[in-house]
Amino acid sequence: MSQIESASPSARCPFHAATDPEIARAVADFDVFEGPFTVDPAAAMRLFRERRPIFFSPKLGYWVVSRYEDVKDVFRDTGTFSPANALEKVTPSSAEASAILASHDYAMNRTLVNEDEPAHMERRRALLHSFLPAELEKHAPMVRRLVARFVDRFVDRGEADLVDELLWEVPLTVALHFLGVPEDDMDVLRRYSIAHTVNTWGRPSPDQQVAVAEAVGNFWTYSGQVLDRMRLDPSGDGWMEYALRRQRELPDVVTDSYLHSMMMAGIVAAHETTAHATANALRLLLEDRKAWDEVCRDAALIPNAVEECLRLSGSIIAWRRVALKDVEIAGQPIAAGDRILVVMTSANHDGRHFENPDMLDIRRDNTTDHLSFGYGAHQCLGKNLARMEMRILLEELSRRLPHMRLAEQRFDYLPTISFRGPDHLRVVWDPARNPERADDRAKTPRPLQLLGSPPRSSLARPVRVAAIDALTDDVVQIALADPEGHDLPPWSAGAHVDLLVGGFQRKYSLCGDPGDRKRYVVAVKRDAAGRGGSLHIHAELRAGDTIGILGPKNLFRLPDGSERIILVAGGIGITPIIAMADRLKSQGRRYEVHYCGRTRAAMAYADRLERDHAAAAHVHVGEEGRRLDLAALVGAGREAIVACGPDRMIDALQALCADAPDRLRFEHFAAVETLLDPAVEAPFEAELRDSGLTLTVPADRTLLQVLREAGIDLPSDCEEGLCGSCEVGVVDGEVDHRDMVLTAKERAENKRMMACCSRSRNGRIGLSL
Ligand code: HEM
Ligand code: FES
Repeated sequence: MSQIESASPSARCPFHAATDPEIARAVADFDVFEGPFTVDPAAAMRLFRERRPIFFSPKLGYWVVSRYEDVKDVFRDTGTFSPANALEKVTPSSAEASAILASHDYAMNRTLVNEDEPAHMERRRALLHSFLPAELEKHAPMVRRLVARFVDRFVDRGEADLVDELLWEVPLTVALHFLGVPEDDMDVLRRYSIAHTVNTWGRPSPDQQVAVAEAVGNFWTYSGQVLDRMRLDPSGDGWMEYALRRQRELPDVVTDSYLHSMMMAGIVAAHETTAHATANALRLLLEDRKAWDEVCRDAALIPNAVEECLRLSGSIIAWRRVALKDVEIAGQPIAAGDRILVVMTSANHDGRHFENPDMLDIRRDNTTDHLSFGYGAHQCLGKNLARMEMRILLEELSRRLPHMRLAEQRFDYLPTISFRGPDHLRVVWDPARNPERADDRAKTPRPLQLLGSPPRSSLARPVRVAAIDALTDDVVQIALADPEGHDLPPWSAGAHVDLLVGGFQRKYSLCGDPGDRKRYVVAVKRDAAGRGGSLHIHAELRAGDTIGILGPKNLFRLPDGSERIILVAGGIGITPIIAMADRLKSQGRRYEVHYCGRTRAAMAYADRLERDHAAAAHVHVGEEGRRLDLAALVGAGREAIVACGPDRMIDALQALCADAPDRLRFEHFAAVETLLDPAVEAPFEAELRDSGLTLTVPADRTLLQVLREAGIDLPSDCEEGLCGSCEVGVVDGEVDHRDMVLTAKERAENKRMMACCSRSRNGRIGLSL
C-alpha cells in the first residue's frame, strides 16, 4: 500500500504551488490536445525539460516526464512502472458510446504492449520468431515491389499527396501481409484504424464518440471474424497465423483474449506508426534541402537519416505507464497507482544526451539512442520492419523524385496523446526532369542496408584540414572546415569529434571558438606508446587533406546550475577544460581552472589560458616546483570538480572525492587497452534473461558485437569503455570489468557492465536484456 497516498498528485506536486509563476502557469495550461503541444510538442516541452523535469498535469491527470534519462529509466523498470494503461482510453466513453461498444462485445484486453511480467515476456518470447532479421528479410522484395507500384502511379503527374497515395497504403498493405490478414478491406480498415486511435488516444467530442464507437465496434467484430477464418487453416506465413500455431503448444500463454485484442491492436501498431513516421521524415528532409540532396546523392546515408527523423519527429511522441509502488522520479515522490506520461519526443530533444538537439543532422552518430520505439522489455517488436519500410520508401523517392519539393500547404495533425503525423503531405515536381526519362537505370534501386544499425562508416562527415600548427614539440593544433564552406554543426564545451584518418579512429575534444561555425579546432599529442593514430596524424596529415569526422558529441558536460566550479586539467587534458573555462567565463559564472604539466614548453595552451582567464587561471609547472596539491584543492569544499587528465590524476581525485562522488565529473584522455587479443581471451555464454536467449561470445568478439548480431539494439559510442553508453544490467555471474566508467563501488555491486569491453570471469553471465 502506498505510503504517500494521503495527498492527491496535484497537491504533492511541488510545482502545483510553484513559486515560479511562469512554470505554475505552464503546468496549469499544459494540454496535449490543444495549443503549443499540438503545434510542436518537443518545443512546447522545452520549458519543462529545462526547469521542471517532472510535473503533474491537472488537465490530463498524469505525471509528465520530459528528460532523456528519466524517460529511459521509467521504460527500463517495468517492475515499478507497469504498461497496463498503455491502451486505456484517455477520454472515458460517454454512456451512449459505451453502449455501442458493448453491443459489439468489445473487450480490448492485454496484448503485449500492456501486459505485465512475467506473462509479457513469456508471450513475447513465444511470438518473437517472425521478427528475427532472417524472417523480416523475406518481406523486403514485397515492400520494394509495392513501393515501386505506388510511385509508378504518380511519378509522371508532377504532384501528389504522399500520405494519401503512398504512405498510408504501403504500411497498411505490409501490415496486413505481415499479420496474414487478407487485403480486400483496405479502405474500411483505414477508417477503422483511425477510429481506434481516436478512441484510445484522442479526445473525441460527444458527437464524434458515437461514430468512433461504431467504427471501433465494427473493427472489433471484423478482427474476430478474420481470426475465426484463420483458425480454419493457420498454415500461412503471417504473424497471427504463427501465433495460432503457437497457441496449440502454449494455450495459457497465447490466449484467445490476447489473439483477438492483438489482431485489432496489431493492425494499428504496424500501420499508422510507420505511415506517420515516414510522413514526418519526408517533411523534415524536404524542409532541409541540403540534407535531402545528400540523401538523393548517397543512399548509404538513408538508414541514419531515418533514425534521425525518428528522433526529431517520431510518430509516437508519448507513452503511458502506471506506478506499481511508491517511487521517486527526478526527486519527485510518485505514489503507487499514479499515472505517468513519458514524453519521448521531449527526451529525444534533450541536450543532455544529444548535441544540438533541435537540429536535423543525418550524420549524427548517436541518433539511434532515440526513444521513439520505447526502451527495454517492451521496446517495439516491429521496429526493424518499420525501419526497413521507411528505408525503402526514402530510397525510392530520393532516387526517382530527387527534384520534388513541398507544395504550399498547412500541416494538420490529428490531436492525440501519442500518435503524430500530418494528415496530408503534398509535393510537387517537374515530370520533365524525372531522372528515369533521361536514363532508364534510374528505375533500378540503389544498394541499401535494409536491416540492422546504420553502418558507422556512413556517418563520417567529410571535412578539409584548413590548417595544422605546432603548439609544442609534441602537440599540433588542427583546424577543420566543411569542404564546401557550409557551417559545421554547433558544439558545446566538453564535446569531442572522432577523426577518421589512415584507418584509425581517434577522439579529440573540441577546443576552439564555439561561436565560429566555419571551423573546428582540435589538438593532437604525439603518443609514441599509443596504437599509432596520433603518430599517423603527426606524420601524414597535411593542410588541404580531406578526412572524415564523427560527431560532435558531448559525453563530458559542465554541471548545470550556478555554483562555483573547479576545473582541473593534466597534460593534453587541457583541451576540453579550456573550452569549459571559455564557456564559464562567457556565462559570467564563478570558476577557477588548474592546469598541470611537467615543463611549460610541453604545455599546449598555457599562455592562452593565462591570457584569457587571468586571475581564474592557475598553471602548475612541475619543473618550476609548482605542483598542484590535489588534496588541498579538493579539501572539504562542496563545489563541483570537473577534470580531464591522465589516469593517476583522475584516480587521485576519485579517492579524494570518495565521500562525495557526485562532486567529481571527469574524462580520461587515454583509452584503456580494450583491444581483444583472442589468444588470451576466453569465450563465454551470455544468458539474456528477459528475452530467453543464450548467446555465445567467442574469444575474438565483444559482447556488444554478439548482441547486435542477434538483432538486439544497444547504444554505443566510444566502444573503448570510456563513455558508459553500452551499459547492460547484470543479474548474476562474475564480470571482468575493463571500462573506465564504473567506480570501484559499482564494480563490487556487480549490477552492470559495459558490453563493449567487459567480459565474464567464469564463462557465464546473466543479463537483464
Ligand atoms: C510496441 C513505436 C512500428 C509492433 C511499441 C511501443 C512503441 C512503438 C513506442 C511501446 C514501447 C514500450 O512500451 O517500451 C513504434 C513506432 C513504429 C512502430 C514509432 C514505426 C515507426 C511497429 C510495427 C510493428 C510494431 C511495424 C509490427 C509489425 C509492436 C509491438 C509492440 C510495439 C508488437 C509491443 C511490444 C511489447 O510490448 O513487447 N511500438 N512502433 N510496431 N510495437 Fe511498435
Ligand atoms: Fe562507450 Fe561501451 S560504448 S563504454
